[in-house]
Amino acid sequence: MNKNILLIMVFLASGALVYAQNYNHVTAIDTNFEDGTLGGWAPRGSPEKGLEKLEVVKDIKHSGTSSLRVFNRSMTWHGPIHKLTDNAVAGDVYSVSAWIYFRDGPATGAFTFSVERSFKDASKEHAYQNVTSFQAKKGEWTELKTEYTVGADPTQAGIWVYFELPYKEDNLVQPNDKIDFWLDDIKFVKLDPASRPKAEMNIPDLYKAWEKSFDIGVAVSRSDVDVSSQNSQLLTKHFTVLVAGNEQKMDAIQPTEGKFNWEPADTIISFGEMTGMRLRWHPLVQHTQNPAWVFQDKANASRPVSKDALNQRLKTHIQTIVRRYKGRVESYDVINEALSERSGLRTGGEGSKWHEILGPEYIDNAFRWAREVDPRAQLVINDFNLESDSRKRQEMFNLVRGMKQRGVPVDAVGLQMHIDLKSPSVQEIRETIELFASLGVKVMITEMDVSMYSSASEAKKPVTDALLLEQAQRYKDIFAMLRDQAQKKNLTDMVVIWGTTDNTSWKNDFPVPGRTDAPLLFDSRFQSKPAFWGLVDPSKVRGLR
Ligand code: XIL
Repeated sequence: MNKNILLIMVFLASGALVYAQNYNHVTAIDTNFEDGTLGGWAPRGSPEKGLEKLEVVKDIKHSGTSSLRVFNRSMTWHGPIHKLTDNAVAGDVYSVSAWIYFRDGPATGAFTFSVERSFKDASKEHAYQNVTSFQAKKGEWTELKTEYTVGADPTQAGIWVYFELPYKEDNLVQPNDKIDFWLDDIKFVKLDPASRPKAEMNIPDLYKAWEKSFDIGVAVSRSDVDVSSQNSQLLTKHFTVLVAGNEQKMDAIQPTEGKFNWEPADTIISFGEMTGMRLRWHPLVQHTQNPAWVFQDKANASRPVSKDALNQRLKTHIQTIVRRYKGRVESYDVINEALSERSGLRTGGEGSKWHEILGPEYIDNAFRWAREVDPRAQLVINDFNLESDSRKRQEMFNLVRGMKQRGVPVDAVGLQMHIDLKSPSVQEIRETIELFASLGVKVMITEMDVSMYSSASEAKKPVTDALLLEQAQRYKDIFAMLRDQAQKKNLTDMVVIWGTTDNTSWKNDFPVPGRTDAPLLFDSRFQSKPAFWGLVDPSKVRGLR
């Protein structure tokens, strides 16, 4: 090679390296409380609601000699707040890092990082958004680390950031919601747009590889569908079915009786409609993520609601949703996770107040009420571990067989398929699908992901190339079997993956706080993983069988 060319190449390569390390990031907030001041942090409370207090203390600290103590809290939302910017710019991305500590209350506690925005029209009420929640362990400092992207809203003006506990209505606040907490080393950095990874676009479309067998869907959050985000580009390119990871759940949809909060779910649904995707709803009924009011007596919140009143509430909830989205949402998880982890149906002891108050007929009723409003919607009963747990599988079989015999309109069994690198086997999944199909219902894969971990006791490990290859093999083998099952008409025409990029997966910090996972098809930099190529063009991955 000509020496000059070599020199130019060396120059370019080193230039690129230097450039990569010299992005123009801007520090917006950087407080370590070492100077003894609050550094711009202030309490959120108002005098009428009682004021929480902030002080710089020296006995507890993450680094240096001091930290910020937040105390005298009486509401979940009591915590420290700080101005981030007066000039909100859509698409700006801030990296967020803060360390949190608490020593009272539960062994692990949830903390939420949220933002408040004002508007150019100063008379408009401020908007509040919970960006993300973290689990922290009692007695240990935990890092709250995330990114916050300013949404596309030309009417917004200023942004404040704050830390709080997960929201509860004032009358539901418990002693554990009022604990003191400490913060230290809080840093917000506005990232230079040049440093932001760009979604990999010059690759084949995932859905096209499978469109002869089924559409491929994806679970999203409201921020995923922000059209200015890289994530939204991956969504529109690769997936043809959309479902919400949380925004369609009862606590999100009907936080207060009769006051439906459609905005987050609608944002997702409109994005789907705008981009030509088919729509699912998850779920109409499940035992978790319910608002507290639904199981409480209206006159006396400390007493359980009566059976009649709860039936009415359930019917209203289901029918209000199905009526609103009739002809738009094609497929509903009517009931999610109704089966026990031990035997039979999930009852009060395992957290199902629906079963406790209404008895097992709540399941049949829910399906009938949904069908009454939308005769054409596909109605699904959804659960997990049906492939790996033969007892649970048989119980789902018995349940659905009974429903069919009673004329209950159930169209499909949903297999969540939150699986891992080892289990269940392809054979077990195939047998499960064939078993349910023998009842005359279809099977839908509703929430697939492939975790790097087989149990909660496994310690955090690096995601190696070998593990990524194993994962690609799993996706490839399972999808090959699904193609075969689709040909046999055992499957519905949708297979849904529970998320787009690894960093937004629900498997991060769950079931083990602090343990990150990598169960999806795209990595946190919006790049395709071997698992993606396993589904689209296996010849691109060395070592795939
Ligand atoms: C999960 C969401 O992905 C998380 O963001 C949330 O914190 C908890 O719920 N099975 C289900 C889904 O049916 O509703 C769950 O979704 C994942 C497991």
